[in-house]
Amino acid sequence: MELVFATNNKNKVKEIKALLPSSMKILTLSEIGCTEEIEETEETIEGNAKLKANYITKKYGYDCFADDTGLEVDALNGAPGVYSARYAGENVTYEDNVQKILHEMKEKSNRKSQFRTVVALNFKGEQYLFEGVCKGGITSEKHGNDGFGYDPIFRPLGFKQTFAEMSLAEKGKISHRGLAVQKLINFLKQLR
Ligand code: IMP
Repeated sequence: MELVFATNNKNKVKEIKALLPSSMKILTLSEIGCTEEIEETEETIEGNAKLKANYITKKYGYDCFADDTGLEVDALNGAPGVYSARYAGENVTYEDNVQKILHEMKEKSNRKSQFRTVVALNFKGEQYLFEGVCKGGITSEKHGNDGFGYDPIFRPLGFKQTFAEMSLAEKGKISHRGLAVQKLINFLKQLR
């Protein structure tokens, strides 16, 4: 089975390929000749996942899945949420976003937060949504060098390490994207 994963984020592709059976071939956007940026203009995580998947299916005609993820911090009323990629502004780095959260959380005792991923799958003319949630807490400083994004400041519930201190396999088993993708895989498997 061949499916397009509507992303060019190498970290995400690596994470997802590690979870998929080898019979499932994943094509990335650059591999189908899509070099343009797909703007995430919706106001919800679900909305942006659907928008990206629909863009590819409509323009390129492929069955496709897209994911969108947000970090939702309780003490910040659910921010950065759908704005996680550009929390510190447009064209910022992961580090800028991490520093902004650390700064805003400095005086906060409630460190509870969660990552939420929604995967939208367009398959044979139908659309399906899969959600994965990983609950945890925001640390007071960065720990670890692996992963990407907010990984160095997110410690999943019940663990001593942050995501940035875990291997890809460890993170994949419990992470928001791992859980959403597992649901996607289970769905695809029962179709065959
Ligand atoms: P995206 O729109 O799904 O690419 O995710 C938005 C932002 O959330 C990214 O730019 C990252 O900063 C952050 N993010 C997404 N997934 C993860 C993750 O697994 N770990 C840490 N940060 C993540």
